[in-house]
Amino acid sequence: MQPNPAPSKPRPADNTTNGLYGQDILSVRQFTPELIDYVFGVADEMKTLVERFGSADLLQGKVMANLFYEPSTRTSSSFMAAMQRLGGQVIPINTVTFSSVTKGESLADTVRTLECYADLIVLRHYEVGAAAEAAHWASKPIINAGDGVGEHPTQALLDAYTIVQDLGHMDGLTVAMLGDLRFGRTVHSLTRLLLHRNIDFRFVSPRLLRMPEEIRDEVSAAGDHFTEAEDIHDIIHEVDVLYVTRVQKERFTDLSEYEKAQGAYIITPKLLQKAKSEMIVMHPLPRVGEISYEVDNDPRAAYFRQMQNGVYIRMALLAAVLGRA
Ligand code: NCD
Repeated sequence: MQPNPAPSKPRPADNTTNGLYGQDILSVRQFTPELIDYVFGVADEMKTLVERFGSADLLQGKVMANLFYEPSTRTSSSFMAAMQRLGGQVIPINTVTFSSVTKGESLADTVRTLECYADLIVLRHYEVGAAAEAAHWASKPIINAGDGVGEHPTQALLDAYTIVQDLGHMDGLTVAMLGDLRFGRTVHSLTRLLLHRNIDFRFVSPRLLRMPEEIRDEVSAAGDHFTEAEDIHDIIHEVDVLYVTRVQKERFTDLSEYEKAQGAYIITPKLLQKAKSEMIVMHPLPRVGEISYEVDNDPRAAYFRQMQNGVYIRMALLAAVLGRA
């Protein structure tokens, strides 16, 4: 038996948020270059706001439900911090184990419950398409905070924002993505967000963990260029962005395959000696050995800045979706 879908979402008149007011954020495909510029502009303002005042009351009276079916430190905390710094309140369901999900409640019923209490729902789920499904049932906006091996649009926005902050722009760069390109949703979303920017993509992974064909095809269709490699040493000298990922242990059905892939790459100061002085090393984190701690003090290590930028980007998105940007 299927529940009834929500009536289509109200589309409020929106002259100020470039169409984001009241909308779901499900995929980076929704973000045109103009919309990305708009979000980055609001994020700049949020950064200034946090640096000067710490918080504001823009979202006072608004409530966000944070519904996480998978583990998270950064995404969940930064969404909560973003909401709280804008004066809003949070219902944190960071571990669904303690919610009625454990009693067998469906996603449809859980989101239709939470929208009785909250103005929007941030959802992380282990299934591709779960955010779209939730959006189908909910009449309040859903923000996809990662759906299985699918997408992680807010991460891609904060990644791209970090590239622009650190390198000044994101056009014509050589971007190497390294590690688990098959199961890593962050690289799927970031690749899509960077299409049509004349990027030279370098997909570096063990054969088993190649970038999915669907995404390679999207890169080609966009007229962008990519090459694939298994070794980072040969190309490290030419990259502007080195985006490192964790091997996604939880996605493997055969753990011996995971053991083979894990530890294939370790970014060290020695490797970075061969890299440009004006490049950045990124990682969505958590890391489990892919970047040695000795790299952290290198000014090119951007992963702590990425985390900080995540708050500004999420503040911008929450404000826009709730019509207060
Ligand atoms: C990533 C994720 O959950 O996809 N983490 C994050 O959101 N910063 C990356 C990962 O878990 O490897």
